[in-house]
Amino acid sequence: MTAERDATGFGAPVTVALTGASGAQYGLRLIEALVVANREVWVMISKAAHLVIATETESELPARPERLAEALIERCGAAPGQIRCFGREDWMAPVASGSGASSAMVICPCSTGTLSAVACGASNNLIERAADVALKERRQLILVPRETPLSAIHLEHMLSLTRQGAVVLPAAPGFYHRPSSVEDLIDFIVARILNQLGIEHRLMPRWGDSASPKA
Ligand SMILES: Cc1cc2nc3c(=O)[nH]c(=O)nc-3n(C[C@H](O)[C@H](O)[C@H](O)COP(=O)(O)O)c2cc1C
Repeated sequence: MTAERDATGFGAPVTVALTGASGAQYGLRLIEALVVANREVWVMISKAAHLVIATETESELPARPERLAEALIERCGAAPGQIRCFGREDWMAPVASGSGASSAMVICPCSTGTLSAVACGASNNLIERAADVALKERRQLILVPRETPLSAIHLEHMLSLTRQGAVVLPAAPGFYHRPSSVEDLIDFIVARILNQLGIEHRLMPRWGDSASPKA
């Protein structure tokens, strides 16, 4: 995806949905990185994801979309209007229809529940519907599941989504960059997502770009 500017002055919007799998930090860091890349970011956070965020991080984010946007703008140092948030049944949001403005979508982290709903086209909430729209419009859709071990149901859904054109990018960081912190592990996955989106970043060098993977 190119970084052409729209009327807002930001690069093309990217939709980020956080669902209730462990690994909320991946999604929050992804939003930060997209802000740094001067992208407009459209955010949806499921009810279960709010619980995971409160459990795994120091933050407790507000549920109401307007308040959530304010909190994320402050947290990420974003410009006014750079982050927009949509609620569970905000069917008037641009992501709810194929005629809305186009954006790549990342579900990060992606619960097996949402994975299954997207694979089946359930569209029972705005996250599921936005993913369904991305698939039908042949837009970029990246799912970042975190579960272990995986059942045949999970694996079949991942195969089905991959065959439909989505990218399944498990939250399974490598260790060849010699991580010295949890942040290094988070950045490994976020860098992979940004690579998929074609967005420049400085989170970690690409393989082969430097003699030392830690440079
Ligand atoms: C602290 C916590 C951690 C969880 N970790 C996972 C997980 O790693 N993977 C997963 O698929 N579900 C996990 N779950 C269960 C999901 O949150 C649950 O299935 C929920 O219904 C998903 O809803 P959502 O997809 O609408 O967010 C976790 C739940 C909690 C409270």
